[in-house]
Amino acid sequence: MRSLITDPYAVLGRDYARSRRPDPRIAAAVTSALGDAGSVVNVGAGAGSYEPGDRRVVAVEPSSRMIGQRPADAAPSVQACAEELPFPDGAFDAGLAVLTVHHWTDVTAGLAELRRVSRRQVIVTWDQAVFARFWLVRDYLPEIAEHESRLACLDRVVEELTAAGETPKVEPLPVPSDCVDGFLGAYWRRPEAYLSDRVRAGMSGVALLDQNVVAAAVGRLRADLADGHWHRHHVGLLGRTELDLGYRLVTT
Ligand SMILES: C[S@@+](CC[C@H](N)C(=O)[O-])C[C@H]1O[C@@H](n2cnc3c(N)ncnc32)[C@H](O)[C@@H]1O
Repeated sequence: MRSLITDPYAVLGRDYARSRRPDPRIAAAVTSALGDAGSVVNVGAGAGSYEPGDRRVVAVEPSSRMIGQRPADAAPSVQACAEELPFPDGAFDAGLAVLTVHHWTDVTAGLAELRRVSRRQVIVTWDQAVFARFWLVRDYLPEIAEHESRLACLDRVVEELTAAGETPKVEPLPVPSDCVDGFLGAYWRRPEAYLSDRVRAGMSGVALLDQNVVAAAVGRLRADLADGHWHRHHVGLLGRTELDLGYRLVTT
């Protein structure tokens, strides 16, 4: 089992617990999707975001760096990978996987394992076609979409679950304009945030790109913010309180 454990988050996750705190509105949507599940396995659990506090939770996380950032009162964690979950069949009412499936080395195996150990699944991922229209991607860093095209996101998750006999339900997860979590789309109405090295370090979709390309894009964004170009072009966003960037809640 240990041989399956890889740890890209040894570097990516250095400051995770600070930059990636759970957003209460997204947490409410996840908790509602979990329904009356009394026991939950949270796979790719990271530092514990979105784990409900009112039921039995076991976290699965391969990265020591991430496990080390779990709060002292967080649910117990097991160091393991989605592809080989160390639990018997049907051990949990629900399996949760938030913004992690795209990191798995074998998505077919990981989702099969999630289904094996849990009766229902709640997965947060994103629709790449919608996300590609996000201004940061479309106007500054199309390399994000190019990188993402190699990742398993919404289409792959739905395809795998459907092939396994499920009828997954897909719901939009709009991003609040003051989103607390620092994932890639979180700052859609706060563009200055993307100028920060620390903010971008918490976004794997940017942190894994060629940093020379990122620096050039950030330079263009900085200039567009300074001369008002960004605000002129995105004035329609400024009055919005939430936006659909393609994040999706998939439930079975
Ligand atoms: C973006 S973080 C999300 C963490 C947490 N779910 C959250 O929403 O904050 C992705 C997590 O997936 C984990 N991960 C990467 N490969 C994995 C695998 N094969 N199985 C399970 N988790 C994995 C990483 O270590 C990391 O903690």
